[in-house]
Amino acid sequence: MLSGIQPTSGSFHLGNYLGAVRQWVDLQTANDAFYMVVDLHAITVPQDPVTLRQNTRISAAQLLGAGLDPEHCTLFVQSHVPEHAQLAWVMNCLTGFGEASRMTQFKDKSSRYGAESTTVGLFTYPILQIADILLYQADAVPVGEDQRQHVEITRDIAERFNSRYTPTFTIPKPYILKETAKIMDLQDPGIKMSKSASSPKGLVSLLDEPKVSAKKFKSAVTDTDTVVSYDEERKPGVSNLLRIHSALSGQSVEQLVAHFEGKMYGALKTELAELFTEWVAPFQERTSTFLDDPAELDRVLAIGAEKARAVASETLATVYDRIGF
Ligand code: ADP
Ligand code: NA
Repeated sequence: MLSGIQPTSGSFHLGNYLGAVRQWVDLQTANDAFYMVVDLHAITVPQDPVTLRQNTRISAAQLLGAGLDPEHCTLFVQSHVPEHAQLAWVMNCLTGFGEASRMTQFKDKSSRYGAESTTVGLFTYPILQIADILLYQADAVPVGEDQRQHVEITRDIAERFNSRYTPTFTIPKPYILKETAKIMDLQDPGIKMSKSASSPKGLVSLLDEPKVSAKKFKSAVTDTDTVVSYDEERKPGVSNLLRIHSALSGQSVEQLVAHFEGKMYGALKTELAELFTEWVAPFQERTSTFLDDPAELDRVLAIGAEKARAVASETLATVYDRIGF
């Protein structure tokens, strides 16, 4: 297993947790799992150095707060393992310009930033991600739906390397759970919840005061109907709330629809606000204990980087040899 999360804004949002991090926790015990804070990816857009360093630590603390256990997985910071940048260059030289140009996330992000402030790094970001995944010979990559295309291109490039040289890389599969693959913005259920595109009221930040988030659930945009039922096309807001409730409560959407029969949207929103608060309070407490002990956090990340490097350097040495370096 291999996956990563950007330290871009300090606090993770509910989409990051339900779409990705929760699966990381579930998969860590039965698998050889590598999880990282991808600070190299973060600098595809401008970052203030002090803030970036701080957000990287806050991100690692949240991963531990969410339940990652360094006894069961390898948790590290991407820039601590130089092999990521080294293998990325090789992958750059195997990827077609046209192929890279078809990445939809780049199109979205670059149109948001404008041509003048779009970096080449933002364009080649998926290629760094190819290196991230292949360095660890990952079988599966637990991510949200928005990352599917990047795992697909990773498969193509791994196959290309294997046939051009000699079988070297495991071909990875995306690990995407349908129910939580795309958590939507609470104010605009037509777009995914996202650090960069959501308005403050549409984004549930995990480190906000629970009261603030509870309010956002209570004022979530729904529709003019009143019956709580699941219909992604016609009732995207309510369907999103039902999926979030289901993920947090463990009840199926069908059970929830039965439970809310005869009740109005307000009941669903209130229950969801309570459920979230119950989950987030202990998460925040655990995250704080790691932030309050910088020496322990450093120790965990140093051990993680060492374990990651042991695997990554072996893969890179094999690749260099096969290429003719
Ligand atoms: P963001 O997309 O907010 O910038 P990242 O790119 O760091 O966050 O994504 C970290 C992980 O969270 C990825 O696996 C991504 O697919 C997942 N993810 C992000 N937003 C959502 C969402 N709204 N629903 C489900 N998963 C998401
Ligand atoms: Na493990």
